[in-house]
Amino acid sequence: MAKLWGGRFDGKNEEWIDAFGASIAFDQKLAKHDLIGSLAHVKMLIKTGILSAEEGQTIIQGLEQLQQKLAANALTFTVQNEDIHLNMETFLHEEIGPVAGKLHTARSRNDQVATDMHLYLKEVLTEVIEKIHHFREVLVEKAQEHIETIAPGYTHLQHAQPISFAHHLMAYYQMLTRDEQRFSENIQRTDISPQGAAALAGTTFPIDRVFAAKELGFAQVYQNSLDAVSDRDFILEFLSNASILMMHLSRFCEEIILWCSHEYQFVELTDTFSTGSSIMPQKKNPDMAELIRGKTGRVYGDLFGLLTVMKGLPLAYNKDLQEDKEGMFDTAETILASLDIMSGMIATMKVNKDRMLESTQKDFSNATELADYLASKGLPFRQAHEIVGKLVLQCIQNGHYLQDIALSDYQAITPLIEEDIYEKLDAYTAVKRRHSLGGTGFDQVSNQIELAKQTLKHS
Ligand code: ARG
Repeated sequence: MAKLWGGRFDGKNEEWIDAFGASIAFDQKLAKHDLIGSLAHVKMLIKTGILSAEEGQTIIQGLEQLQQKLAANALTFTVQNEDIHLNMETFLHEEIGPVAGKLHTARSRNDQVATDMHLYLKEVLTEVIEKIHHFREVLVEKAQEHIETIAPGYTHLQHAQPISFAHHLMAYYQMLTRDEQRFSENIQRTDISPQGAAALAGTTFPIDRVFAAKELGFAQVYQNSLDAVSDRDFILEFLSNASILMMHLSRFCEEIILWCSHEYQFVELTDTFSTGSSIMPQKKNPDMAELIRGKTGRVYGDLFGLLTVMKGLPLAYNKDLQEDKEGMFDTAETILASLDIMSGMIATMKVNKDRMLESTQKDFSNATELADYLASKGLPFRQAHEIVGKLVLQCIQNGHYLQDIALSDYQAITPLIEEDIYEKLDAYTAVKRRHSLGGTGFDQVSNQIELAKQTLKHS
């Protein structure tokens, strides 16, 4: 089969080598964008008089027919036609005859593929932002229900100090807010048109790049044709942002997996987000959370894959750049699906308040309260820390907790301790009293939630 670029070749092509060079298996995902790019290009060619209105109209009609066929799934792509661009041009030829050959005036597949990728990613970024936004709403709603739910707070995965469960959820809300900002900034650097850069050097035809960019809805045009065809940092930025997002989701998933375990029993996922075991009838596994944790690996892989492809690549276009697509598609699909799962899983997750509270009562996570109590009565904090440390050790030896020590025993150690200590040692009070800005006190958490609601409403 003759190649669209076959003029200077007289050797035979080999199918297996063609297959190695082809990208149609994956870049057909860009079919829609390729047609949109071509339509803008031909309109620009008519506007600038490079093509006659009549020729241009024929091409437009042909491209619109292809749009319909694509929507109806009636286009059969072939490896012989290598990639989405050459496949489309061949279809156009079948549709309208030799005039189809005029479409490629003043352009190259190099600016064409870059345009397709910018269009595709802009769409994906918008969708990602919507889904993160929704997930943030879910988190705020869940947090609202759990302001006064007392949970153990951890450092080193050891009980540290009790916290409001809403505070824990809102920590993820804050991370997701920054993720959303990062993807929004990513749009600014994706909303730029490479169209008209041609192969690498621009063109002698009197094209109007700004007109074409407006047709495509791009805010700007690339200022340098070499940069336009070889820049992939807008994709690297997407993959980096996606990696950070997945890192956040994987931390949350790891916690959910722990919380679902028999040892914790802090939460229960609905059956929809769990699976059973083929051998152990009692099992209810948090598979979806595990999968998101696992899929984080492939997103990191996509980032490192493209960083490595780009490393040391000379200007301008090189075929290596064809390797930019699969990772981008894979990451887009992975994060969109992961965000849907996260929103559903958290919205329907049952929180076992009693169990959480109980686990803050049979521990020493109120030790800081006792030390702070002594410090607030004038004892240097270091000295208070020492006294409480010794008390904790005694309690462990005697098999009880700080709240079980009799007042007389406390007073034998220091008269600074009075009856009100027991209230202070209570986990609920310990959380409630943490009024410092951004702390876990109920007032602080409520403020945080209020602010989040306002932010969500206005963005
Ligand atoms: N399929 C190619 C890619 O994805 C399109 C650009 C080809 N350009 C070229 N000069 N061979 O990168």
